[in-house]
Amino acid sequence: MNTISARRLEASDLLLRYQWLNDPSVHGQMMVSPPIGLAETQQWFSRTLLNESRRDFAFTLDGALPKEVVAMGGLTDILPRHRRAELYIFVRPGLTGRGIGSRAMVWLCEYGFSELDLHRIYLYTTERNDAARRFYARLGFQDEGTLRGHAFHQGRFIDRHVQGVLRSEWRKPREERQVPG
Ligand SMILES: CC(C)(COP(=O)(O)OP(=O)(O)OC[C@H]1O[C@@H](n2cnc3c(N)ncnc32)[C@H](O)[C@@H]1OP(=O)(O)O)[C@@H](O)C(=O)NCCC(=O)NCCS
Repeated sequence: MNTISARRLEASDLLLRYQWLNDPSVHGQMMVSPPIGLAETQQWFSRTLLNESRRDFAFTLDGALPKEVVAMGGLTDILPRHRRAELYIFVRPGLTGRGIGSRAMVWLCEYGFSELDLHRIYLYTTERNDAARRFYARLGFQDEGTLRGHAFHQGRFIDRHVQGVLRSEWRKPREERQVPG
């Protein structure tokens, strides 16, 4: 499979973002509640431009024409003092299971540890998203616990699982890790 490139999220990506987040295969696994409006997405984007504690990216496949966005992700709650950030990722509906998410994850972790000099990257999964938990574990994210009833989502309290990777852990096993191609 082609390698992946990342660029900062742009206003022209927002229509896609809004469409993907309203897709049940995406919002069913993330802490977003549809329907999400396009205007709401645009307002969110305007706020992110002023927010120094996050970096949002769009991913494209090298060599592919047209150069379509295949995934979006980012690092949020970047805290320079603690050198940690939360990671999020979602792949274009219909293109999951093809190695795109793995490549985007590796890019985001490399960016976080190398460019932002982070010490720790962590993420949350919602209950019932065991496939995503296994996916993150395979990339080196360790299970760090379950926050019981941590979020009120779609009418009920749900558990959230925390997974994280430290910079020291990320560098060593990286070469050995299998990234599906
Ligand atoms: C989770 C996600 C980012 C993984 O990216 P991807 O491109 O599908 O993953 P890859 O092709 O690189 O790797 C495939 C692995 O991801 C896992 N996976 C998790 N969710 C998946 C999904 N919705 N579809 C396909 N594979 C998924 C599979 O278990 C698969 O492992 P396997 O090869 O052992 O079967 C992507 O599937 C996605 O965006 N899902 C919907 C939203 C979501 O769950 N986001 C994460 C919220 S914490």
